[in-house]
Amino acid sequence: MKLRRRSAVVAAGVAAAALLVPAAVAAAHGNGKQDDTSLRALASKQGLRFGTAVDASQLGSNKAYTDIVAGQFSAVTAENAMKWDAVEPSQGVYNWKAADDLVKFAQQNGQAVRGHTLMWHNQLPSWLTTGVSNGTISDAQLRDILHKHVTDEVTHFKGKVWQWDVANETFANSWETPQADGLNADDFWVKHLGSGVLADVFRWAHQADPKALLMYNDYNITGEDGTNVKFQAVYDFVKQMRKQGVPIDGIGEQGHLDTQYGFNAQLYQNDLQAYGDLGLKVAITEADVRTFVDDPATQVPTDSLAQFAQPYEFSALLKGCELVTQCISFTAWGVYDGDSWIPGTFSGEGSGLLYDVNLQPKTVYSTLQQDLQLAAGTKKHGPVGSDK
Ligand code: G3I
Repeated sequence: MKLRRRSAVVAAGVAAAALLVPAAVAAAHGNGKQDDTSLRALASKQGLRFGTAVDASQLGSNKAYTDIVAGQFSAVTAENAMKWDAVEPSQGVYNWKAADDLVKFAQQNGQAVRGHTLMWHNQLPSWLTTGVSNGTISDAQLRDILHKHVTDEVTHFKGKVWQWDVANETFANSWETPQADGLNADDFWVKHLGSGVLADVFRWAHQADPKALLMYNDYNITGEDGTNVKFQAVYDFVKQMRKQGVPIDGIGEQGHLDTQYGFNAQLYQNDLQAYGDLGLKVAITEADVRTFVDDPATQVPTDSLAQFAQPYEFSALLKGCELVTQCISFTAWGVYDGDSWIPGTFSGEGSGLLYDVNLQPKTVYSTLQQDLQLAAGTKKHGPVGSDK
């Protein structure tokens, strides 16, 4: 049934193209106004929030960027401003400014805020990692420090954050060393504090803000890497946590794709639905679809087929979310290619986002508009608001 539905969705999407593109392109350039062909307006017709990661250094200083963020998106994620190294660069000395500015911007523009991220092995402040590596911070002290960090940060944003990525990327990928429970044995937090640390951080976050939706966030947890091993590990672990009464509300699938690897859209949708059938909400939290490009400055795809693969795979990510009612938000990991993490991480690759290096909408932008237009009113994913 769903397969037929998917092909119907794809086929009719093309028909919608002629209706949308001219008006859409004008709107896509961003004028800060929320017109009815924007991604956020179209997504709201199915109770879905369409979001973006926001670079604090661009918000406010880059007008075109700021207008697009305000006009196109109904959810925002701090790309880096809420990470531990940003908010507590020195122990006990907090720097909330960039994150507070984003929250204020979101409140002014009717956007929900995704908090990212409380416990991750990356972007930890050097005072913490140095203390652990030289032994001046014991594992017992590390647990207390983590407890304080989670409590302080969630308390600071209490009532202002819709979803928290409480724990990020703690399960093993195929190239890493899995524990029996599937967690990455070499993850900084798992290695020092054991598997129980996940239940701890969810409980601490819930104590600090009982209304926030608490998510486990990771990549390759919906079969997008061609295997369902990591999905099964996360599924089983979270199912067990919920049985133990751990306050975990949902799963964030990051959705970082690469056209060179292909993508099994049906497996991805099946896995999203499986999480939903556990009673969890799901969110696509960091969507981008990278491909090989000429150079980081222009990011023109070098493979002629990529011009079709990139929008196709981005559309498959969105459709999977649209077809699972428990999917409450779909977030791209950045606004435009010129500000994406991809070129600095994957040499020779880029063009992963909806807007090009000149902040102009790409084909994928109108592809997603068509998807949203077509699905308008089909399913309610939830109130486009902060209620659970
Ligand atoms: O803030 C410093 C600045 O002071 C310094 O001058 C500059 C040059 O060294 O570095 C700046 O920090 C950079 C930081 O982004 C803020 O811009 C780090 O070097 C850089 O490594 C960091 O990259 C971020 C990356 O996470 C770190 O792992 C990317 O912007 C961000 O998009 C990326 O996002 C992650 C998600 O949080 C989790 N999922 C995977 C995703 C991609 O890696």
